[in-house]
Order: sequence, then structure tokens, then C-alpha cells
Amino acid sequence: MRLLNQEPTNEVDAKVKDTYYKMHTSQTVEFVKSQHEKWGKFDTVELTIMEALEYLADFVDESDPDAQFANSFHAYQTAEAIRAEYPEEDWFHLTGLIHDLGKVMGKYGQPQTDLSYLLLLVDILLIIRL
Ligand SMILES: [Fe+2]
Repeated sequence: MRLLNQEPTNEVDAKVKDTYYKMHTSQTVEFVKSQHEKWGKFDTVELTIMEALEYLADFVDESDPDAQFANSFHAYQTAEAIRAEYPEEDWFHLTGLIHDLGKVMGKYGQPQTDLSYLLLLVDILLIIRL
């Protein structure tokens, strides 16, 4: 858990605080509409779920820089944790596996400060296409 209302005491916490600040102050209605237009065309890249997970193997999430493992590992870790807690809810396991796949957009030039909104958009688009 992070206490973002306190002054950061080191460079990593300062980066995390800055990233969240930009995320929460730069997302206007106009921005959201422009991102729907940009990413809703599906003309950037086409990946399977497994390919997208592999793409995230070297992605460093600025909002969580203390994760010392690949973001793809985080996806499996999340899905397995959900399965342990809710073994009968296979839809929930899948949700845990794909919940961060929108971070792939960070590899196509999208600033990470925009990714919190875009993650939601991609998750919705993935669900529609599955
Ligand atoms: Fe995550």
C-alpha cells in the first residue's frame, strides 16, 4: 500500500507519486474521446493473449516500480491467487490474467500516465472480442 498523500522520501516513491498525479489530472472528456478514436480502430497491432503476455515480460510499470519481476509474471500470479480463493469462478481467473494487458500500449508510445484509463478501455474491448 502506498501513502500518496505524504511527501515521498525517495526517488522511487517520488516517481510513483508523480505518475499517479499525472494520471489523475490529465484525463479530460476530450482526452478520453480521443483515445477511444485512436485505440478503438484496432490498427496498431494484433496479438493473441499469450503474445500480449509475452510482450509484457520486460515492461516496467512506473506506477509500481517495486515489482522486481516481469509484468507477465504478475498476470499469472494474479490469476493463480484468484483461483486459489475462488476455484469455481473460471471467468474470474481469466480476468486476473488479462487485467493488465492494456500496458502493451506502453510499448507503442502511449505514456504510462495515460494507461490507467486505457487499461479499462482495453479490458472492455478484450471482453467484447473474446
Ligand atoms: Fe496489475
